[in-house]
Amino acid sequence: CGIVGYVGDAQAVKFLIEGLSKLEYRGYDSAGIAVYNNDKIRTEKSVGRLAALSEKIENDIPVGTMGIGHTRWATHGRPSDANSHPHMDCHGDFAVVHNGIIENYLALKEELMAKGHVFKSETDTEIVAHLLEEVYDGDFEAAVREVLRQIEGSYALVFMSRRDPGVLICSKQDNPLVIGLGEGENFIASDIPAIIARTRRTYILSDGEMAVVKKDSVSITNHAGEAVTKKVFEVNWNAEAAEKGGYEHFMLKEIHEQPKAVRATISSRIAKDNSAVVLDELKWNKDFLNSFNRIFIVACGTAYHAGLVGKYYIEKMARIPVECDIASEFRYRSPIVDENTLMIVVSQSGETSDTLAALKEAKRLGAKTLAVTNVVGSSIAREADQVVYTWAGPEIAVASTKAYTTQLIVMLLLGLYMAGIRETMPQERITELIRGLREIPTQIGQTLEDEDPIKTFAKQYGFNEDVFFIGRSLDYAVALEGSLKLKEISYIHAEAYAAGELKHGTLALIVDSIPVIALATQKSVYEKTLSNIKEVKARDAVVIGIASADDTELEKYVDHVIKVPETDELLIPLLAVVPLQLLAYYAAITRGCDVDKPRNLAKSVTVE
Ligand code: G6P
Repeated sequence: CGIVGYVGDAQAVKFLIEGLSKLEYRGYDSAGIAVYNNDKIRTEKSVGRLAALSEKIENDIPVGTMGIGHTRWATHGRPSDANSHPHMDCHGDFAVVHNGIIENYLALKEELMAKGHVFKSETDTEIVAHLLEEVYDGDFEAAVREVLRQIEGSYALVFMSRRDPGVLICSKQDNPLVIGLGEGENFIASDIPAIIARTRRTYILSDGEMAVVKKDSVSITNHAGEAVTKKVFEVNWNAEAAEKGGYEHFMLKEIHEQPKAVRATISSRIAKDNSAVVLDELKWNKDFLNSFNRIFIVACGTAYHAGLVGKYYIEKMARIPVECDIASEFRYRSPIVDENTLMIVVSQSGETSDTLAALKEAKRLGAKTLAVTNVVGSSIAREADQVVYTWAGPEIAVASTKAYTTQLIVMLLLGLYMAGIRETMPQERITELIRGLREIPTQIGQTLEDEDPIKTFAKQYGFNEDVFFIGRSLDYAVALEGSLKLKEISYIHAEAYAAGELKHGTLALIVDSIPVIALATQKSVYEKTLSNIKEVKARDAVVIGIASADDTELEKYVDHVIKVPETDELLIPLLAVVPLQLLAYYAAITRGCDVDKPRNLAKSVTVE
């Protein structure tokens, strides 16, 4: 979900709508605003996209210089006007917007109902407004503090009171919240893109902090009510970086940004003479690495797929056993974790609740922790002992592309870095891979040059209801990501199988004309993959092969071949995934899907 707030001299609605439009990717089942004017709070809500809300208020724009707003991705309660934020108390005195989950809301709701409060929605958030009403006795700040004391769970909250004009109060726990500092006006948002068009000077709130925001002051206190002195965080992105920059969709723009993102993630992390990976942010030594008997890589969605590649890299290069797990599973299976465990979490947003919870659990069990994330100052970045950032820049499209490739880069860098320290790989091999790595940004660029055949396949096969992806070894990991991309944005049912596993069940689904995308970039298992491709061809599947530029064999056995530039088989996933991203994109276009905002999905999922 997305949150915004404004207090100043200008009309609040202007910033609220503008800010929410930049946050819509965080959730978009419904949108709402509350604006204070003349002793009254007026709320306007609408199910659907923000545009629906804008239309609704077009001819009667709420007037007022203080307001809050929200775009919602439904968790507690289905999408409806009543369940949309902002939520208010019985008498319209207080308005609240919230991201996260109030875990003890049912108990609080019962207590409040017993005291006569009448609820309009099914949401956990509405209780916050009623609780505020219940505890308020003229001191807004003290009342909010009391509410925060009583609620349990995760939240970013902004409170507005009819009886306290000119003051917004906000607080956070496990959900992001930033305050943008203006001249004679201040802004609140759950994410930086909402405010960068207005100001670059921000305060990033930490867990448990509470900020009292007025037009010309911001005062921050901690849990205990003690004043906190915050450093101003200057945002160095420009507003344009968060815009589409000429492409029809953020996703296509982000696919094309991969050479740049990958270059940024590599640069300054490899020695000039190509002899080693230099991760100044870690400064690990042999003793530290030898203290681990196991590494976990834990993540969700696309980041999990990057983790699968990471497992392969680290085991192959650094010879430490790696387990890769889905964050929502890890935590509940009593994982065997202790001080000899290194826990690596991977998360583009750095805010995914499942991943954050897994990280906290591993920490509690004594693991050393490392976050691989794209968002500086994110919850996961702050929670982990150490961080290696992917420098992909803001990723807006729900379907992750440049974050994935930069995550692969970090996994590779980690593998090489650990191998260098542990001396588990010959120096020549390390140098060879680093040399290859330097070429990758240019080679991704080359892969992106020829989109036409992919557009044609997307048109040809875009209306099929089932597609299979097969591959062995690293090709299998890439196949999983390719099939997820296709499912997410084109709603085509796609499954990825380890090519050798197909014959153990799934082959039953391979019938005449079914499209199979076969990745055959891994030289070490090439012949075996070829046999599996022949198995599906024998069942009359239509096979699109993905191969290295030097491959002359595959085209003899498949219907079409997409070639990617030649490189080391460990590096080729960085190239092989690109046509799969484009295929998913153009298939979604063929089917008329909303590419950047696929149904039911959100960019950053801050519920477990
Ligand atoms: C959501 C997104 C996915 C993403 C996953 C993990 O489900 O829709 O695209 O891969 O979260 O996100 P993270 O920010 O932790 O990488």
